Amino acid sequence: MGNLFDMTGQVAVVTGSSRGIGKAIAHRMAEHGAQVVVSSRKADACAAAVAEINAAVGREAAVSCPANISSKEELQALADFAMARFGKVTALVCNAASNPYFGPMAGIADEQFVKILMNNVVSNHWLIQMLAPQMLERGAGAIIVISSIGGLKASTVIGAYNVSKAADLQLVRNYAAEFGPRGVTVNAICPGLIQTDFARALWENPEILAQATSGSALKRIGQPDEIAGLAVFLASRAGAFTPGQGFVIDGGATIV
Ligand SMILES: NC(=O)c1ccc[n+]([C@@H]2O[C@H](COP(=O)([O-])OP(=O)(O)OC[C@H]3O[C@@H](n4cnc5c(N)ncnc54)[C@H](OP(=O)(O)O)[C@@H]3O)[C@@H](O)[C@H]2O)c1
Repeated sequence: MGNLFDMTGQVAVVTGSSRGIGKAIAHRMAEHGAQVVVSSRKADACAAAVAEINAAVGREAAVSCPANISSKEELQALADFAMARFGKVTALVCNAASNPYFGPMAGIADEQFVKILMNNVVSNHWLIQMLAPQMLERGAGAIIVISSIGGLKASTVIGAYNVSKAADLQLVRNYAAEFGPRGVTVNAICPGLIQTDFARALWENPEILAQATSGSALKRIGQPDEIAGLAVFLASRAGAFTPGQGFVIDGGATIV
């Protein structure tokens, strides 16, 4: 039967994988046998993540291809690089996102709101448009969008970001229905508060941290590696019968 979680022979493209949740996903996918394309805006950060992953897994599993998700041209170059290098992409993880505004929704500038929607929703859609056709041709593939529990809840400080993460949940439902008949699964992961640079404004604020942890089952925030296992599940045979969902991993923040 083989290992349910084996990713040998797979090729994964993970955006925003030079650090945080994306790096943990790239690392664990490589550990499970995949080749991974590490990507973020900064070439040196990507190169460092590639070196770290390859040293940890003991083979040349990771390669780097910097790309800014706000540029359609750079995303196309990322997709082209992965296809030229490996001949296929079997798992696409749309992980990178932006949140340039912290405060009440009523005060957000148009450019900030548009940037959030473009980077967190439209760029995911672009990458899917670029890399799904070759998955559909082969009749297999997994697309994973990193959403957030913010997409399920109201917020007085990251409201526009939450709008984008809610849209990601609908994006994966639509694409799951569209691609499911041809063997490609599309899902979202909704992390709760994870200790990364991205969420620093939340977990460094004692009031927000206390609110997030006191109201959760595990009474703590999460680490990037605690998200990676679900991405491996969704990209491997273990997740083959699992389309269109938004899986919450939040230490119990939404159940209490
Ligand atoms: N941390 C949390 O509490 C939390 C909770 C729920 C959901 N999430 C979601 O999880 C995902 C990853 O966040 P994280 O917390 O792991 O963040 P992180 O540790 O700050 O890492 C962000 C990654 O994305 C890259 N990146 C940032 N802007 C980019 C851009 N415009 N184009 C390409 N790459 C870009 C960064 O590298 P460069 O700076 O080199 O570009 C880095 O590799 C995001 O979708 C976020 O919304 C996070």
